[in-house]
Amino acid sequence: MPRSSSDAPLAIRLAADHGEIDALFREARAAMDREARTEAHRAIDRIWMRLAVHIRAEHTALFPVLVEAWPDLAASLRGLREDHDVFMATLASAVNALKGPDVDWASVKASVETVRRRLIPHNALEEERIYPLAGQLEEGPRARLDEAVARELAALPGRYGAR
Ligand SMILES: [Fe+2]
Ligand SMILES: [Fe+2]
Repeated sequence: MPRSSSDAPLAIRLAADHGEIDALFREARAAMDREARTEAHRAIDRIWMRLAVHIRAEHTALFPVLVEAWPDLAASLRGLREDHDVFMATLASAVNALKGPDVDWASVKASVETVRRRLIPHNALEEERIYPLAGQLEEGPRARLDEAVARELAALPGRYGAR
């Protein structure tokens, strides 16, 4: 969705993160299609790490500030949290399934595809309805929130960049 100049930096940053995570799914798909276990394990583990960090930024920084300002958001945010739990549990099971030599590729592909498909409406809802609300906060709280989100997103585990 096109960004407007009134978007808070965190809205742009979190939406860009969605796009980068989406690109990691393409890497994972390519490795799964070749049934390359080591590469698929690495690619899906990297998706897991990126999503864990992204979700932590939403849970610890963004959602508490938004629900305090707009209490009616509670139900929507609960739905997003439930999605997050499904994403992390499903990806963790796919990573585990790729640890041993005997891989059930159909099941791993199905798990990864389940997450990728559910992320589409999830990310659209966040980008269209949730992130833009940050732009309506007062300048001080918004700047603190921008900083907190940036700090959380930068906290990737060391093995993320390891080859
Ligand atoms: Fe989310
Ligand atoms: Fe998100």
